[in-house]
Amino acid sequence: MTGLVRDLTDAEAREALVCKWGEVAPDVLPAWVAEMDVAVAEPITEALQRAVAAGRTGYPRFGAGRELGTAYAEWAGRQFGHEVDPDQVVATVDVTAGARLALDVLAPAGPLVFPVPGYTPQLDLASICGRERVDLVLDPDAERAELDLDQLEHHFRAGARTLLLTQPHNPWGRAFTRDELEAVRDLVLRYDAFVVSDEIHAPLVLDGREHVPYLSVEGAASHAVAVVAASKAFNVAGLKCAQVVTADRALHERLMAAPFARNDSWSVLGVEASLAAYTHGDAWLDDLRSVLAARRDLLVSLLAEHLPLARVRPIEATYLAWVDLRAYGHADPAAVALERGRVALNAGHDYHPGLEGHARINFATSEARLGEIVRRVARALG
Ligand SMILES: Cc1ncc(COP(=O)(O)O)c(C=O)c1O
Repeated sequence: MTGLVRDLTDAEAREALVCKWGEVAPDVLPAWVAEMDVAVAEPITEALQRAVAAGRTGYPRFGAGRELGTAYAEWAGRQFGHEVDPDQVVATVDVTAGARLALDVLAPAGPLVFPVPGYTPQLDLASICGRERVDLVLDPDAERAELDLDQLEHHFRAGARTLLLTQPHNPWGRAFTRDELEAVRDLVLRYDAFVVSDEIHAPLVLDGREHVPYLSVEGAASHAVAVVAASKAFNVAGLKCAQVVTADRALHERLMAAPFARNDSWSVLGVEASLAAYTHGDAWLDDLRSVLAARRDLLVSLLAEHLPLARVRPIEATYLAWVDLRAYGHADPAAVALERGRVALNAGHDYHPGLEGHARINFATSEARLGEIVRRVARALG
């Protein structure tokens, strides 16, 4: 750890993170929405201050955004060893909108396969895009969180044509390996299906593990699109700028041919923040990954001490822990933690409809707060 990442105090976090801290009562410790209680990296705040001082508050540059494309491509090369064509990086407002755009414009008709538990708002993406959602369910008792290829094949055989892949996965905490992704690719090719790969958590792969962009899997380019952003790793989700990336000219042309009103406009300050993150954010991000790995280890040891019946699978990526609390006998442990412990967690059933006894804990907070969060949850569930 190099000390570049700084924890916010409670007062600073309350000022900075108006959703995470402001949407809960003042006596509640927030460990829910995916935002980190850390100060924004200096290169980003400096770029934003410069842009605001210059009055840069109008529309962003339209088109494929050469500058942003180049910054992302260079960054993806350094971070993932992945070659991206800067011309095939298209800006959009956020990752959820980017996934919607990809589904509307690029994905074939037919049901959408969605791995659950999965990012809550995306449970509705299929119906918003006029499709049926078919769930690729992670068995809550599985030792390891893996994509069940038999289930996936069953869905493709039954007519599903698109997989909304989240990788690294929130809330599974997995960074899928190249072998796993190649197995997915084989099935996708066999059934002539399509992949929308939400890689918002790509920068947050921990312990020196590799993030494998789905587009870097051999043979994937013609049937896949990735949606990426600096927003989750650099805590700038409110600035609204994500990128839709293709590695196939024809897919890119189709994206660019979509009517203007189809792609919600992104923000000029989001572009500034993304450029600063991709160009000057590597050292801060390295430090962040070390801090998050240490906080994850702390969370795991706190759980072992205070909630010994809690089950957590190895967390390879993200700052979000998917915790099986069924042994404590509450259908909705997050509700109990809030009511009796004054801690805001995410309810498991919001990620996996009908699933009881699970919660998601956001561990991107200070060591002191993390300790308090786990102790409060333990007292509440006990
Ligand atoms: C997997 C995943 N996709 C998308 C998002 C949301 O991204 P955005 O705010 O850019 O829509 C999140 C937020 O946590 C997420 O975890």
